[in-house]
Amino acid sequence: MTTRDKYTDVPEPYSWEVPSAGDARFTWEYDDGRARLLSLYQKGKDKQWDAQSRIDWGQDVDPMNPVGLPDEFHPLFGSPMWESADDSRRAEMRKHFQAWQFSQFLHGEQGAMVCAAKIVEVVPDLDAKFYAATQTMDEARHVEAFSRFLQDKVELVYPINKNLTALLEDTLRDSRWDMPYLGMQVLIEGLALAAFGVLRDLAPPDSMAKQLLAYVMQDEARHVAFGRISLKDYYSALTEAERGEREEFVVDACYLMRDRFRGEEVFETLGLDVKACAEWVDTSPLMIQFRSHLFSRIVPIVKDIGLWGDKVQRAFTDMGVHDMAGFDIDALMKADEDQAEALDKAHAEMASRAIEVDEVIAAGAS
Ligand SMILES: [Fe+2]
Ligand SMILES: [Fe+2]
Repeated sequence: MTTRDKYTDVPEPYSWEVPSAGDARFTWEYDDGRARLLSLYQKGKDKQWDAQSRIDWGQDVDPMNPVGLPDEFHPLFGSPMWESADDSRRAEMRKHFQAWQFSQFLHGEQGAMVCAAKIVEVVPDLDAKFYAATQTMDEARHVEAFSRFLQDKVELVYPINKNLTALLEDTLRDSRWDMPYLGMQVLIEGLALAAFGVLRDLAPPDSMAKQLLAYVMQDEARHVAFGRISLKDYYSALTEAERGEREEFVVDACYLMRDRFRGEEVFETLGLDVKACAEWVDTSPLMIQFRSHLFSRIVPIVKDIGLWGDKVQRAFTDMGVHDMAGFDIDALMKADEDQAEALDKAHAEMASRAIEVDEVIAAGAS
């Protein structure tokens, strides 16, 4: 079996070449790193993990509800389409929507890996190259973990969403070294991080999805820290016009991400009325709330790195997410790291209890 057999619709062509711009840069200064970046690099090395052993892949996963989500969080819950569906049709709606969402995570993570590798190539200083090299490895692990989950447990993969493709393309085609970082890490991964958080918190305590999401989020805390350190320094030194270009990019990308990720491919694949479903998603109070929550990580970071001109503020006000600028991003990231560590601890305890039980059984038998 290959992934080809699991696609709802096999992508044609089966690979994607993006012309990319930007010079590969070398430096001959090996000894002049910024302490904050070097300590982040060190942390990146210390916190490497293996997706094959840290996640308990033997666990059963219900392929019809792989994340174990309550129905109230299905985008079509309560709609005429949902109400008229019988149990097996609803199961299909659950499976397909989660497969679509995790497929976008998977393709997005591949984008993150390619962007991190590009940063290694184009960023001028060695400390940032070092750090981005550890991030490239982190993103490889995310691709590996999401891919295994989707292929082995869900057995259904959706092609990349065309708006995600457009966003990635804009990010990669640009020759300015900060753009892969701004587009990929701050915006696309910022949005994904908020979505991961919702699913992680809704997934049942011992589920594979919860483990997977918590461990990925633990790495993302470092990625966000890198963006804040390196972009903040860099943006403060740009001219107003140069900053203005970045702000325009942020505004366009945010509207695109808010309005264009509704899961239309799912409605189409299931033979539902695409227009009616999209309208439902656009007007359902829960979905409106969910969509604005998706900006909870992006808004405080955009402010923090100094892209906080009128245009950006007006757009965030219009989207109803301006107040999120006050969120404490350090506290959110710290909580993400703590959750992953707490899961590790719980698993270590379970494992040692299982050994104890085995020993007692063995003693009883002999
Ligand atoms: Fe990632
Ligand atoms: Fe990342």
